[in-house]
Amino acid sequence: MEKKLKRIGVMTSGGDAPGMNAAIRAVVRTALYHKLEVFGIMRGYQGMIDNDMFQMDNRSVANIIQRGGTILKSARCKEFFEPAGRKKAYENLKKHAIDGLVIIGGDGSFRGACAFSAEFDIPCIGLAGTIDKDISGTDFTIGFDTAVNTAVEAIDKIRDTMDAHDRVFIIEVMGRDAGYIALHSGIATGAENILIPERKTDINNIIQGLQEKERRKKMVNLIVVAEGDDFGGANEVQKILEENLPHSEIRVCILGHIQRGGSPSCMDRVLASRMGYHAVECLLEGRHNVFVGIQNNKMNYIPLETAVKNKGTISDEWMKIVKILAS
Ligand code: F6P
Repeated sequence: MEKKLKRIGVMTSGGDAPGMNAAIRAVVRTALYHKLEVFGIMRGYQGMIDNDMFQMDNRSVANIIQRGGTILKSARCKEFFEPAGRKKAYENLKKHAIDGLVIIGGDGSFRGACAFSAEFDIPCIGLAGTIDKDISGTDFTIGFDTAVNTAVEAIDKIRDTMDAHDRVFIIEVMGRDAGYIALHSGIATGAENILIPERKTDINNIIQGLQEKERRKKMVNLIVVAEGDDFGGANEVQKILEENLPHSEIRVCILGHIQRGGSPSCMDRVLASRMGYHAVECLLEGRHNVFVGIQNNKMNYIPLETAVKNKGTISDEWMKIVKILAS
């Protein structure tokens, strides 16, 4: 028979994402509703190793739903990827009699949870929280909508200068291994070219298109590049283009961490609230090692392994849309 759950831990891990606070709030309030005790673990797995955790109540999560960042702070913890680090973490959880964990984070955090749950008998439930949206098995992740809207707002402003000066602009958005922010913000701002890590870029084709524009003296062109594209980001793309278009003004803007911060959008707050609620329900139902994702607007429980093993893909159709709409 399953032992009865009494006390759970909640943490945020990896890169912060807008909406993480809303998820923490939902986890805490749902757990308290079910008469469970909740401990907040600081700085993700690092707090488990350092025994940095505290009991939370309803007031601990008051007035945070609209705030970016995470009140539990976040970290990428290398020590947890060593067996000795995980053992220390387990012993600290046992000291506090924590018998279930909710981990709000991305695929790296889920990898940690998989390793931990293979060794120790503490159920881990993941919540998909990352601006990159690079977790397979879910249509959205907490933070993506806000990040992409931040990028769109910034790119719209840059477009004004691009138009006024007849320039080529290369905007770099986040995404070391994933092109979703570039794809969505690029489509939403009418970018002519979108460069992403998932697809090979035909740079000669881009150069030819720009040379043609140069000839026609119509040199306005927006290129959105994910930081992890084939060439290594916007500065590298600029070098290649400048060599081939000596008469054009080519500018770079790297949006950087502005995309990770700020007040979460309505969509991220609602998504985080639903996911947080379901994470606790999941633990109460006795589920082990799944993450809460959303598919066709329904909450789903997906094995953590799935997120760890499969990378998201970007279909040919997306690239066709980009090409047709930019023509
Ligand atoms: O995973 C989220 C993310 O923002 C990526 O898009 C980016 O490559 C990375 O984190 C940056 O990480 P850091 O803030 O540690 O430099």
